[in-house]
Amino acid sequence: MRSVKISGISTRGCDYNGVKPLRSMESKTPATAHSIRSLDGTRQHHGNITEAFLQGKRTEHLFIKHRLNSTLTTSHPIPTMGAVLSFYDACWPPKAKWSVEKIPDLSGKIVIVTGGNSGIGKETVKALLAKNAKVYIASHNRARVEAAMRELEQATGNKALFIELNLSSLSSVKAAAEAFQRLETKLDILINNAGVMSPPIESITAEGYDLQFGLNVVGHYYFTRLLTPQLIAAGSARIVTLTSHGHSLTDGIKWETLKDGPARQKEKPFDLYNQSKFGNVVVACEFARRYGDKGIISTSVHPGLIVTNLGRTMSPAFVKFAHYLSYSATKGALTSLYAATSQEALNANGKYFTPWARIGKAHPAALDAEVGAKLWAWLEEETKNVQ
Ligand SMILES: NC(=O)c1ccc[n+]([C@@H]2O[C@H](COP(=O)([O-])OP(=O)(O)OC[C@H]3O[C@@H](n4cnc5c(N)ncnc54)[C@H](OP(=O)(O)O)[C@@H]3O)[C@@H](O)[C@H]2O)c1
Repeated sequence: MRSVKISGISTRGCDYNGVKPLRSMESKTPATAHSIRSLDGTRQHHGNITEAFLQGKRTEHLFIKHRLNSTLTTSHPIPTMGAVLSFYDACWPPKAKWSVEKIPDLSGKIVIVTGGNSGIGKETVKALLAKNAKVYIASHNRARVEAAMRELEQATGNKALFIELNLSSLSSVKAAAEAFQRLETKLDILINNAGVMSPPIESITAEGYDLQFGLNVVGHYYFTRLLTPQLIAAGSARIVTLTSHGHSLTDGIKWETLKDGPARQKEKPFDLYNQSKFGNVVVACEFARRYGDKGIISTSVHPGLIVTNLGRTMSPAFVKFAHYLSYSATKGALTSLYAATSQEALNANGKYFTPWARIGKAHPAALDAEVGAKLWAWLEEETKNVQ
């Protein structure tokens, strides 16, 4: 077994909230785009790499660290064989026992999918529209959302709606929640799907948080918090938050890295991604604890290793290794849809789902009530004066 260095990954040419101009990312796309065959046998267009290869290497790396008995500074050590087996189970799951055909008719249900214009989110919206839900795509780039909306209408015969939401700016999050509140009085399903992975280390949000924690965790927390009255008004509502198996490869939250500064800048972008996905599980659990008795079911979902645009900052060489390992975005939406619509998930408040549509085991620290209360208090404090 080789040791693998994961720090040398290219993060050039991306568009993360103005860090670099969009054109620079898009001009790279043709060079990395190609047709691939995924594990479920479908051929598809691949704009960039998925998490697969990187997560595989990370697990391998952890495994080696354990074997060499080197220091893994976590208070919740991951058992060596357990970590490897759970990684393989999360990457190459058994055949799905649940399918989108089981989604009931959703007429009258109001849904928001953040980042519903791309990848897993777009496929999630497609399945929900096909079952007659009223679906709002909340995302940050109007042109990309409108293109997705046209495609989705052609595919399903139903129109999605748009809410402008930039999760890397808390004032935009507030404006988006207010825009929704002017339009609707209830919200049946909120799918916190949008995310960024491993942007350049200099990427931060409008308020100076690490971009990955700020967008994936703080932005989604605040959006959900503001929409809680509409979720409660639905009578029985669901919050589904996308996380990643990578959350279990973290050492928990390094508080000094959440805002920009020397400690954050020393971190590897991929470790900050895993930390943000850990935060997603913690917050999903905390919503379950705090609002379970008010009719809200909150769960988190690892969607699988999926071909999407998530790895847009990775190098083309990386794509070559990764693409055979990943599944289609249609499969990637399955577990979110299960958490959002199935009868079974009604009994799963606070649970973590893994592909395809199964209850999985989250990192025990992410389920810890003390960790949840601490992160919740921090988030409340950070968002109390948003203009
Ligand atoms: N793909 C995988 O293998 C995998 C594995 C584990 C977990 N996940 C999780 O699955 C979720 C969906 O990702 P994906 O793979 O479908 O990636 P994707 O195709 O890149 O989709 C991400 C979505 O987030 C949106 N977004 C980015 N920045 C935003 C911002 N500032 N404000 C609002 N929306 C923003 C993107 O919009 P634009 O396209 O317009 O930028 C896009 O719609 C993520 O949370 C990811 O962490 C994915």
